[in-house]
Amino acid sequence: MRVGIARERRSGERRVAATPDTVRQLAGLGLEVLVEHGAGEESGHSDASYEAAGADVVDALELGDLDVLLHVRPLEPETPARLRPGAVTIGLASPSTELPTVEALRDAGVTAFALELVPRISRAQSMDALTSQALVAGYRCVLEAAMRLPRFFPLYMTAAGTIPPAKVLVLGAGVAGLQAIGTAKRLGARVSANDVRAASADEVASMGGTFVHLDLDAADAGGGYAKELGADRAARQRQLLAPHVADADVLITTAAIPGRPAPLLVTAEMVAAMRPGAVVVDLAAESGGNVEGSVAGSDVAVPTADGGGMVTIVGMKDAASTMPGDASRLYAKNVANLLALMTHDGSVEPDFSDVVVVDACLTHDGEVRHPATADALEAVVTGEGGFGGSDRQEGTR
Ligand code: NAI
Repeated sequence: MRVGIARERRSGERRVAATPDTVRQLAGLGLEVLVEHGAGEESGHSDASYEAAGADVVDALELGDLDVLLHVRPLEPETPARLRPGAVTIGLASPSTELPTVEALRDAGVTAFALELVPRISRAQSMDALTSQALVAGYRCVLEAAMRLPRFFPLYMTAAGTIPPAKVLVLGAGVAGLQAIGTAKRLGARVSANDVRAASADEVASMGGTFVHLDLDAADAGGGYAKELGADRAARQRQLLAPHVADADVLITTAAIPGRPAPLLVTAEMVAAMRPGAVVVDLAAESGGNVEGSVAGSDVAVPTADGGGMVTIVGMKDAASTMPGDASRLYAKNVANLLALMTHDGSVEPDFSDVVVVDACLTHDGEVRHPATADALEAVVTGEGGFGGSDRQEGTR
């Protein structure tokens, strides 16, 4: 069977859905792999390296000849019609925000798998792209902050005086937040963090951070996820966080709620109360923002309330794509592992009695198989509007 890897078309996307390493894995399963010319260029993989791994590099992929299409970003709405009915696609699909593509996949009879829907069970960990990409994003947030902060992260004791370590506060201690804590610690900062889930205090401590206990009950939704706080508790959380935010040199926010816009944790007033030169990095900028005034893909300078200088708010965009080499290496592995699960004797045959296949399936046989997305499409058709979930979360698990 033929597996195709196209060059990603969406602006800002630098990752690729297969590396020479995973091409070898797929070829070993008996699959024929076609790679579009230049597909791996931005992530450091030449056409020659794909060829050496056993792929055929082609100028343009004939989508209608493929049995499987691997991708990173959601497909454009016009792509599914060019695939043959029954073809399989695997990649990030952002079902909550890319409803026109979901509709096109359904109508084209494509069997589409969305990596956002892979269940978080032990067996599927090697296919969990949300986790692998959040790791990259959390690391990158800290580097972005460090590059903009007009001072060191670590403590320095020198003949010219002692420089205290920078204070880094991380809000939201999921995969990205924990990576941010670990990275800031390795750079020598003094790190503290807060999350609304009960288990997060131990997780923060295990990464070397100090947990900031607020006088607020935990908000667990089950399955390791957080629940949205009601308006009163959200306001109370902001009030309790205010002095911690004001005391931080660097604030990194990564809070998310599955299927909901990101919670607002930090108001413009809280930002203005920070020290001149402080840096705020909002990883949730693309999905609503944890910080008032953050703009995805831009730096925003905000005057401090004391008039002494500015605070920089960095709105992260395409965070994982900023490190396309390792992000692709992990992502391609996630994709190849999911495809391997469905491949038997060189033939791709999804087994719909396997929970990983069932959960990850977005469309099959002319139907939308993911209930929340089917409901959202139905709501659009009946004029009730879709749900505005976050791209990172999809509200699925
Ligand atoms: P996420 O991206 O959904 O959210 C990020 C963090 O924001 C979460 O820790 C959440 O509790 C927190 N948050 C939400 N509202 C907040 C608020 N108002 N204030 C402060 N923090 C807030 O989370 P992610 O990274 O997807 O991880 C969610 C859970 O899944 C974690 O418990 C993680 O350990 C678990 N997990 C399990 C895996 C597995 O079993 N294979 C793999 C990866 C993660």
